[in-house]
Amino acid sequence: MKLSGKVALITGASRGIGKAIAKVLNENGATVYLVARDAEKLSVVTHEIDPTGDTAFSCVCDITSETSIYEMFKRFKADNISFDILVNAAGIAKSSAIENLSLEQWDQVLDTNITAQMVLAKHCFEDMKEKGGGKIINIASILGTVASPGMSAYSASKGAVIMFTKTLAVELAKYNIQANAIAPGYINTDMTKKMMSDKELSQRLVARTPAGRLGDPEDVAKVALFLATEDSNYVTGAVIPVDGGMSVALM
Ligand code: NAI
Repeated sequence: MKLSGKVALITGASRGIGKAIAKVLNENGATVYLVARDAEKLSVVTHEIDPTGDTAFSCVCDITSETSIYEMFKRFKADNISFDILVNAAGIAKSSAIENLSLEQWDQVLDTNITAQMVLAKHCFEDMKEKGGGKIINIASILGTVASPGMSAYSASKGAVIMFTKTLAVELAKYNIQANAIAPGYINTDMTKKMMSDKELSQRLVARTPAGRLGDPEDVAKVALFLATEDSNYVTGAVIPVDGGMSVALM
């Protein structure tokens, strides 16, 4: 299997895109460490991915807390666990027009969507350098390059994810570490559930998507798998849209 012997850390893995990525990496041979805040949900998902409990593990951590991340890596060090692959999939979306946007909301989105990616990459980088290579996969968004009303904090965070990823790519190439981003369009997950329950809006979004459908978490996971394997060793600093063509379509 393509990822035999590889160890992956995946944030936001209790549901949606992160969960689908953890599942596909595990199916392809990787030992996966799933990060989220809710211990109960996480243990159900971890068990669903690997009922034997040998190759999938839960790591309860609030990625907006540097202390929580530090404690998690302290446990990894104590157990001699080091990572070949980091997938930064955790994220939050809060919609608020500028006149209502509070500094607290802004900070919450930026802390979760970009600052945590930096802190986690910093921790995993040490492992990857020691191992002679690694893969960093950051989940951005179509909204990292195009604007939507009410989404200034989210878009700012995702634009930052894109430039952070490109900078990592040029900094870390000498260590054989590839850093790439995936920019999903509209994907059916809990994050978009409420929005998609507005039938008129979801029909409009489908009509704007050349593929004629919204995405599923597995559409994103398959691209993450490519970026996690040696098949993508000469790909770094890329931002791969997984949006059914939405970002390149005028109408
Ligand atoms: P989701 O809301 O279904 O799942 C988010 C995950 O992140 C959950 O596991 C949640 O527990 C975790 N999380 C959030 N804050 C956390 C924190 N402070 N500490 C630890 N874990 C935390 O979202 P979805 O749709 O699976 O999104 C995954 C990524 O994909 C996000 O970065 C999102 O911005 C991005 N994305 C999603 C799109 C969509 O249409 N669903 C479109 C474009 C990008």
